[in-house]
Amino acid sequence: MLVAFFICALMITNIIQVNANFSKSMYLTWGAQHASIVGEDLHLVLDKTSGSAARSKRSFLFGSIEMLIKLIPGNSAGIVTAYYLSSTGSQHDEIDFEFLGNSTGQPYTVNTNLFTQGKGSREQQFHLWFDPTADFHNYTIHWNPTEIVWYVDSMPIRVFRNYEHEGIAYPNKQGMRVYTSLWNADNWATRGGLVKTDWSKAPFKVGFHHFRARACKWNGAASINQCASNVKANWWTSSVYKHLSYGKIRQLNWVKKNFMTYDYCKDYKRFNGHIPHECFKTQF
Ligand SMILES: *[C@@H]1O[C@H](CO)[C@@H](O)[C@H](O)[C@H]1NC(C)=O
Ligand SMILES: *[C@@H]1O[C@H](CO)[C@@H](O)[C@H](O)[C@H]1NC(C)=O
Ligand SMILES: *[C@@H]1O[C@H](CO)[C@@H](O)[C@H](O)[C@H]1NC(C)=O
Repeated sequence: MLVAFFICALMITNIIQVNANFSKSMYLTWGAQHASIVGEDLHLVLDKTSGSAARSKRSFLFGSIEMLIKLIPGNSAGIVTAYYLSSTGSQHDEIDFEFLGNSTGQPYTVNTNLFTQGKGSREQQFHLWFDPTADFHNYTIHWNPTEIVWYVDSMPIRVFRNYEHEGIAYPNKQGMRVYTSLWNADNWATRGGLVKTDWSKAPFKVGFHHFRARACKWNGAASINQCASNVKANWWTSSVYKHLSYGKIRQLNWVKKNFMTYDYCKDYKRFNGHIPHECFKTQF
């Protein structure tokens, strides 16, 4: 019994990676001439010559991915800061946080989206209940076999549950890397390109701090089942593997009621009346 326990614990520690951080686990993939990773800090920079981006060395299958972010103050219209998980290929999965900049004094829009097997179009957008440029705030993606939760400062803002048994695709078959990027998107991000990026304020800088991935390492097909079954037994999911508590559901409803600005589930026109199936299911 005791021996079995230790063998089991050993297997789990082989699979679970605790405390991935910037210097150990991420590297710059674009704009390295002006972006930087130093210890617990990542700075992405955008100027007229280029934006910048970083990604994790590893892929993960399930996990809790934490990032503290301080967005660009002042006039950030036309600029997008992205933080997301993604696999590759035409059938890729993706879980997104995107921050769409705005003119001075106007609120950022937080765009969330989810791709499963290459299909996205599941945007939900929010304003924030604080100024995201004044300080670092905690944006966490929680992804386990049961559900995905997007958290802002520990407030759940969105939930996508696994309804695979009802034919709704769920990302649980391929690992995803963690990505961050900063880029100029003034051709679409601001009211269809009406507002242009104010280059006189460049270079623009976004601070990322305290990246943590408490996640299941993914090394390809062979480890999928191991990953999925072990993740259930692991400490980081044990308290949250269940659905949200009543207290968290109350917070989710508060955010939706007061800060949600767009919901694909209500966009009848866009889907020509055929609202996606998951919109009719419980999502909390
Ligand atoms: C990053 O993680 C590695 C391994 O866990 C650790 O040795 C290192 O001190 C960490 N770096 C920072 C800046 O926390
Ligand atoms: C900018 O602020 C305006 C005014 O509140 C808002 O309607 C718009 O959605 C915001 N744009 C973005 C890209 O966040
Ligand atoms: C960030 O939020 C997550 C989800 O609520 C939480 O588990 C984590 O402890 C928070 N991290 C920090 C540094 O506050």
